[in-house]
Order: sequence, then structure tokens, then C-alpha cells
Amino acid sequence: MDKLAPDSLIVARLRAAGCVFAEDEAALLIAAARDPGELEVMVGRRAGGLPLEQVLGWAEFCGLRIAVDPGIFVPRRRTEFLVRQALRLARPRDIIVDLCCGAGAIGAALAAAVDRAEVHAVDIDPAAVSCARRNVPGPVYQGDLYDPLPGRLRGRVRILAANVPYVPSEEIELLPAEARAHEPLVALDGGPGGLDVLRRVAAGAPGWLAPGGHLLIETSERQAAQAAAAFADSGLNSRVVSSADLSATVVIGRLAASASGASEAGEELA
Ligand SMILES: C[S@@+](CC[C@H](N)C(=O)[O-])C[C@H]1O[C@@H](n2cnc3c(N)ncnc32)[C@H](O)[C@@H]1O
Repeated sequence: MDKLAPDSLIVARLRAAGCVFAEDEAALLIAAARDPGELEVMVGRRAGGLPLEQVLGWAEFCGLRIAVDPGIFVPRRRTEFLVRQALRLARPRDIIVDLCCGAGAIGAALAAAVDRAEVHAVDIDPAAVSCARRNVPGPVYQGDLYDPLPGRLRGRVRILAANVPYVPSEEIELLPAEARAHEPLVALDGGPGGLDVLRRVAAGAPGWLAPGGHLLIETSERQAAQAAAAFADSGLNSRVVSSADLSATVVIGRLAASASGASEAGEELA
């Protein structure tokens, strides 16, 4: 029998470890490794269950290479849908906040696409903050939701984007082992029912949004109606948009453009 080429051996190891896209992953690892020793370490880590992006040190997101450190949330392709929705609403020079930023993929993508945007990002996890500082061209603060934002942003944020943790606590154990073992609980667990953090973000948003500004939060299809109700409770007009291709759902809320929000009940959301 022919001896397997080294590349085929790597594919075989990854496949045996359960990697569905073993060929693609092997090609990425081979391209990333600087020498055979490093390749061996990388293949071992991936075969041991570390997410590919944490092994490579980056994830592709909205055409950008986002640095991803071990132990933080890996940006998902579905979140590109939230970015696309935000881009439909953003204008040059907008003040944009990426709340619960993780590696900062949303903030980095918006900064790259919105002319002269002023982008701020926040995360509670110091590891995420240190990674996001390499990706976001703007200040990244550590702390709980709005707490660390500078007061001068109150009432001036035009786009408030948040991919908060939204897995119901009772369903964490159903997540793939890769997420449970290598992404922190604080990035996944949205409390009983999954909407605790989303509700806190919605409740605080009117204090930070500019008149006519938008809050966008990713959620699941199942949670969308309750999430939209949380937006309404905080006085935001809201709508739900979805992408079947990306399996993505986003709730978009808008703060009324004038002080008398009631008189704008019929105004367009976008
Ligand atoms: C689902 S991850 C999303 C990360 C990033 N936005 C993305 O889409 O790749 C949620 C992030 O929220 C952060 N987080 C959780 N609770 C938070 C809080 N109270 N304040 C700030 N960040 C929080 C976690 O550390 C985690 O990085």
C-alpha cells in the first residue's frame, strides 16, 4: 500500500477527531504553521478539540481577519447579518458602540465599513478586552455593559450593536463540547430563558442612544418575540429581521427622533 503523504495524514487525524471539514482545516493549518514542529502542535490542539479559530489565532468575519485568543468566544458567521443590518442604518461619523464585544469582530467590521466612524467597545472579560484591543480601532473598555463607557457618549450613540450571551442556562449542557469546553460561560449563558443580558442592554439603551439612534441585538428565532417585547418595555420601536441562509435573527430598536416619541408611533423604523 502507498504511504500516505504528510498532508493526507493530517487530514486523516483531523477526520478521526471528528472535524467535518478536515481537508479545509488541514490546508489552513499547513498554511499557518511556520515549521513542522509548530504544525504538529497545531494539529494536536485541533484534534484535541480546540476550536479551529483559537488554534489559528484568527477568524474570518465580514472579509476581515479577526484575532482570536484561546479562551474567548469565537465570532460566528451568522453575526455578519447583524453587521449588515447595522450598515444599512449607519452614517459617516456615527458614534458606534459594540457592547459585549468579545474579540471585537462587530466593532472592527463596522469601523472598516463606516466612513470616519467613532467606535467604542466593551466587554466584562479581561481576556476578550485584551484581544479586542488588537482588532478594534477605537477604545475598548472592561466592565459591566454600559458602566465603563465615558459619560460624554450619553445620548449620542447612533448605532448600539450587541451580540450578548443568549443561551438559556438550562440549555448550556446541550451545546457542542467545543463551545462548552473552550468558550467561557460568561460568553454563552444568558440566564434562565436566555434573555437576562439582552433585557439589561435594552433597559439601558435609551440613556445612551442619540435621538433616532438604533439598538441591534442578535437573538434566536425562538426568543425573538420576547426580545422585541423587552425593547418595547424600554420605549424603543422594534422590529425583527432574519436570514435563513445564516440562521440569524436580529432585533432592531429605534429611539424616537424627538422628545415626544408617542407622536412618532407611525414613523419608519429604518
Ligand atoms: C456571545 S459573546 C459575543 C462576542 C462578540 N460580540 C461576537 O459576536 O463575537 C458575548 C460576550 O459578552 C460578554 N459579556 C457577558 N456579560 C457581559 C456584561 N455584563 N458586560 C459586558 N460584557 C459581557 C462576554 O464576555 C462575551 O465576550
